[in-house]
Amino acid sequence: MPAIVLLGAQWGDEGKGKATDLLGSRLDYVVKFNGGNNAGHTVVIGSEKYALHLLPSGILTPGVIPVIGNGVVIDLQVLFHELDGLEARGIDTSRLLVSANAHVIAGYNRTLDKVTERFLGSRKIGTTGRGIGPTYADKMSRVGIRIQDLFDEKILRQKVEGALAGKNHLLVKVYNRRAITVDEVVEELLEHAERLRPMVADTTLILGEALARNEIVLLEGGQATLLDVDHGTYPFVTSSSATAGGACTGAGIPPTAVTRVIAIAKAYITRVGEGPFPTELFDDDGEQLRQIGHEFGTTTGRPRRCGWYDVPIARYAGRVNGVTDLVLTKLDVLSSWEQIPVCVAYDVDGERTTELPMTQTGFHHAKPVYEYLPGWGTDISGARVLTDLPANARAYVDFLEDCSGTRISAIGVGPEREQTVLVHDLLD
Ligand code: GDP
Ligand code: IMO
Ligand code: MG
Repeated sequence: MPAIVLLGAQWGDEGKGKATDLLGSRLDYVVKFNGGNNAGHTVVIGSEKYALHLLPSGILTPGVIPVIGNGVVIDLQVLFHELDGLEARGIDTSRLLVSANAHVIAGYNRTLDKVTERFLGSRKIGTTGRGIGPTYADKMSRVGIRIQDLFDEKILRQKVEGALAGKNHLLVKVYNRRAITVDEVVEELLEHAERLRPMVADTTLILGEALARNEIVLLEGGQATLLDVDHGTYPFVTSSSATAGGACTGAGIPPTAVTRVIAIAKAYITRVGEGPFPTELFDDDGEQLRQIGHEFGTTTGRPRRCGWYDVPIARYAGRVNGVTDLVLTKLDVLSSWEQIPVCVAYDVDGERTTELPMTQTGFHHAKPVYEYLPGWGTDISGARVLTDLPANARAYVDFLEDCSGTRISAIGVGPEREQTVLVHDLLD
């Protein structure tokens, strides 16, 4: 089995890190294909808990080769901080490969991210402030700095000059900040160059050769379908392609190599940052989901907005990504509710629809239409096979599977690797 895509079906934090870790040692390569250190993946292995931001979750699995693909934006300080943190805990990080074509997040882009948000005021996106948007904007504007540029100081200097030319006008004249010098940027970037050098590789060539040998390459998405810059709730999205199409460009793998697309969906939904969210709860139920599910951002610590499972979103994610398997996570969090609402359609200005509205205004107006399923009222965190689940929990899963249009191949019943009910082998 060659390339497998693993991505988020909702607004992120579905438990992608745990799912990647679960597939673990059966994989040969794990490639992060989009985003940067705006991601936050918590992986629990035995009594150890790891919070990863920039590194692919596969770095935790001995033998797997972790790859940071060309579609990623890299904050070098964060990269080495994360590597040092893992090494200090006894994780061997020496296999990491970094694409020569990945872009670098320079300090000026972190600054621009923050000041842009401030100037947007009430129209802000609620970004993670990590410089993600401005760095992808530079990439598209063709003034980005790539990893390979760090190894030719003359070229690096020219590129930084090009990038700063317009930015300094903006920083000084519009945002009332001080101008940034070429020297300080070059110095900041070169500080890491020698340590980085042995990791840098032609990753598309290496992955192409691995696929030709029939090795298993997992393309691990950061963020999620509704945060995708094309297919998400624009403009309240991240600035990269988090969907299956983005996996191919962000890793340099042809679509024909992808044989499976695994989407991770929570048994309810959360969102961090601004933007429409039809099933969002502002009452005790929302607070309870947040507390029981520990719904606080891994990256920024912000409380996550919480709401009920949304079938139109699951179906949309299935269609846009060509999902073959759903992994339903955090079912255990719902165990104390007597009945559980599931959004099966929207009412948009008096019209009922089971599709995502075509326009931003339509999505803002969408009111959830709920069906109510009976709860199960008992702890399910020890379940390991389907028959361990109480009848009502199975009925809830079956209902989501029927409505969402994709088979549910695994169910999460707790944060630990073993706390998983496997229904279908995800790699077979
Ligand atoms: P990611 O960004 O998609 O990798 O997800 P995050 O790591 O940001 O958020 C998911 C959180 O839920 C993490 O703290 C996981 O340890 C935890 N988690 C994952 N699966 C389950 C599950 O099935 N049940 C419970 N209770 N927690 C889970
Ligand atoms: P993982 O990989 C949840 C959200 C931010 C903000 C928007 C844009 O852990 O699922 P950005 O800094 O990317 O420009 O912010 O996207 N966001 C995430 N929300 N999980 C994530 O990653 C996210 N990465 C970005 O909160 O609303
Ligand atoms: Mg996360």
